[in-house]
Amino acid sequence: MQSQPQDHRFPLVAFDNPLRKLFGRADRFNQYVQPGQTAADLGCGPGYYTFALAEAVGAQGKVYAVDADSAAASAVERKALRLGCAQIEAHCSSAAQLDFIPTASVNFILADGLLCCMAPMGHAAALSEFKRIMRPQARAYISAARGRISYVDDTEWEEMLRGFAVEDRNHARGLQGRWAVVRLA
Ligand SMILES: C[S@@+](CC[C@H](N)C(=O)[O-])C[C@H]1O[C@@H](n2cnc3c(N)ncnc32)[C@H](O)[C@@H]1O
Repeated sequence: MQSQPQDHRFPLVAFDNPLRKLFGRADRFNQYVQPGQTAADLGCGPGYYTFALAEAVGAQGKVYAVDADSAAASAVERKALRLGCAQIEAHCSSAAQLDFIPTASVNFILADGLLCCMAPMGHAAALSEFKRIMRPQARAYISAARGRISYVDDTEWEEMLRGFAVEDRNHARGLQGRWAVVRLA
């Protein structure tokens, strides 16, 4: 019997280490939020972007940090406590099940490298949860790696984007990763 594909898991150090900033600054998504707003970092890993977003939304804002890996969610929770970032709410959950986030409450979703690491059977539910939690003018940044371990092929990627209004995107070739900034259609 064939086993079902599983969500990919990573050592936390893979996504939070001194070399990481060479590949992208932690605050590169801060342009999408304003003080007092709400962001959701879905598949947050150890929180490389979560803490920068928390600084951008400030003490009056909120950042949901969600990861299906309990080690990642706990690492974010501990660091938030240590740094006094009460605006960060960490959850160990699949992005396909976000019932702790109210409908139409989020200004910005960050799903960087989430869907390509998430077992395909959860994709439709995750995208439906994205749409449910987004405020009418909200944006989402989604990205998906290519290659052997990616769970998103180019056909599915285009199909996903058709479910949104695409504001910006790349047209990657070869092994380059794909990204898009989208709004509700
Ligand atoms: C490529 S890492 C990206 C981490 C983070 N976004 C970053 O850029 O530093 C993908 C993350 O998605 C998480 N993940 C995989 N499947 C998931 C799911 N079904 N729901 C939530 N998170 C998931 C993994 O545990 C991992 O932390």
